[in-house]
Amino acid sequence: MSSPAAVEFRSVTKVFGRGADAHVALDDIDLRIERGEIFGVIGYSGAGKSTLVRLINALEKPTSGTVTISGTPITGVPESAVRALRRDIGMVFQQFNLFRSRTAAGNVEYPLKVAGWKRAARKARVAELLDFVGLADKARAYPDQLSGGQKQRVGIARALATSPSLLLADEATSALDPETTGEVLRLLRKINAELGVTIVVITHEMDVIRAVADRVAVLAEGRIVELAPTFDVFAAPRAASTRSFVSTVLRDRPDARELERLRDVHGGRLVTVDIDDHRGIGAALAAATAAEVRFEIVYGGVSTLQDKTFGSITLALHGPGDAVDRVVADLERKG
Ligand SMILES: Nc1ncnc2c1ncn2[C@@H]1O[C@H](COP(=O)(O)OP(=O)(O)OP(=O)(O)O)[C@@H](O)[C@H]1O
Ligand SMILES: [Mg+2]
Repeated sequence: MSSPAAVEFRSVTKVFGRGADAHVALDDIDLRIERGEIFGVIGYSGAGKSTLVRLINALEKPTSGTVTISGTPITGVPESAVRALRRDIGMVFQQFNLFRSRTAAGNVEYPLKVAGWKRAARKARVAELLDFVGLADKARAYPDQLSGGQKQRVGIARALATSPSLLLADEATSALDPETTGEVLRLLRKINAELGVTIVVITHEMDVIRAVADRVAVLAEGRIVELAPTFDVFAAPRAASTRSFVSTVLRDRPDARELERLRDVHGGRLVTVDIDDHRGIGAALAAATAAEVRFEIVYGGVSTLQDKTFGSITLALHGPGDAVDRVVADLERKG
């Protein structure tokens, strides 16, 4: 038997309200989040992301279907059993949710107190955690004395205090600027790599998915419309909402308006070619030059995602019609 998934949803539906007021927040969700992965969930506001999180940590019950955590069902079991499972899940929030009246150390210590740790063990654990998140020197600072990124580090240290195997981050970087977001995302990757913690990252930003997620589910109106390794989703988005998320990050393809402008400025034949590790355009461009077809790179971008080359380039081609046709055919064969 394969080892149990960190999280498994089977035909999970969540309906809020009744009768005419009924609202289906999640609609027949099947999902397996494997142990040790960073799993991203992306969707627009109201798609059902937070509802999904609240079903994982059993703050909400599904209307139908079952949720299983590390092989143990959390639906239809006594509250005491759910409490034990919840101890194995850490939560990180958009607004940090720190106690303003406690220091950074005090905030991190809190879940250890609740779990009944002895004072000396607590102190040692808090020091270790603050060091891990890079805040050893801020132990005695209060939340109001910390930057947003530092507050989120405290929130993360607190979430890790009792060594959960699963960490849920619901819009954990949405209140942070891009640079601080990068730092917090690097910390999440370190937690995953060094501590082996499974992480579920909830976001409406495709940049966040790109930076950390091994796989991603795209949620739209309570349904999973796409679920695939992150690279595949970027390289070949299928659902309309996925394409629109991907285009927020990769502006490597000109849209219709941009194409029109490029046509005005450059003339010639415009061709957009996908680039990856196997499909370069060097040979086709060399052939173009030999056939006296001039080309200009007028748009595009090539970068790396999950260690793979990825992007597209738009060219304006000038020259005799049939020569340009041959170059276009050549480029199409490559990409
Ligand atoms: N307790 C509740 N009672 C009634 N409706 C709810 C409740 N919680 C969520 N909903 C509804 O379910 C839908 C999904 O909400 P949810 O909070 O999961 O969305 P979200 O994807 O997290 O959105 P956001 O990006 O704005 O946080 C929304 O239409 C919301 O109004
Ligand atoms: Mg939400």
